[in-house]
Amino acid sequence: MNRKKIIAGNWKMNKVIEESLSFINELKEAVRGINDNIEIVVSPPFTALSVINDAIKGSNILLAGQDVFWEDKGAYTGEISPMMLKDVGCKYTIIGHSERRQYCNETNETVNKKIKALLRNDLSVIICVGETIEEREDKRTFSVVGRQIRDGLKGLTQKDMEKVVIAYEPVWAIGTGKTATPSQANEMHLFIRDTIKEMFEDKIASSITIQYGGSVTPLNITELMLESEIDGALVGGASLDAGSFVQIIRGAV
Ligand code: PGA
Repeated sequence: MNRKKIIAGNWKMNKVIEESLSFINELKEAVRGINDNIEIVVSPPFTALSVINDAIKGSNILLAGQDVFWEDKGAYTGEISPMMLKDVGCKYTIIGHSERRQYCNETNETVNKKIKALLRNDLSVIICVGETIEEREDKRTFSVVGRQIRDGLKGLTQKDMEKVVIAYEPVWAIGTGKTATPSQANEMHLFIRDTIKEMFEDKIASSITIQYGGSVTPLNITELMLESEIDGALVGGASLDAGSFVQIIRGAV
């Protein structure tokens, strides 16, 4: 199966506009000409999206938001709508990141509402799922991740699913330097693909891009990408330096 590969950099709450711009100028030069069925995505903070959108014009870099609100507009102080993300050039939005689940009361239900809001505004989604270390030790990994997928994608149509990407990010691997082994990650990706197969058509399950996230670096990307079910990476810490992000992209091609 020739699935689309995606390497996405999740900047989280890092970089002011000037830092964002100097990163993007370096990245643009370094990835010129890389196509090869791989999408290169960056996810700057909201404040930098507009200038980065201008800076990437004509390049092969795509933009993602880090979150969105589930209503289209109205009295929701502090929130950002799908249309606003579209307005500044986002193709994707990351939804349900474990940090939002941990610090911002994100639940499978709010994840589902946000995904539907993005889809009805014609935006694509990267939905993050993954278990904590306690859940893994309690042997609840499959039930937790299965529930995140089933509840998060509840009510979506086959057509909607063409705009959905999944990122499997074990919480214990995020920012800890502890990557899941390639076979641990692949086992989960296979489980996620099987869950998608139960919910949607086989064709959706075999074509959906499933990224791995959690302490991805230039040193481990290639062995992760060699696994049959791993189609890319969602990278946090190592995506903040343009040089290391470029090495990850090159290691994934
Ligand atoms: P990390 O973060 O690469 O720093 O572990 C990944 C993520 O949170 O998406």
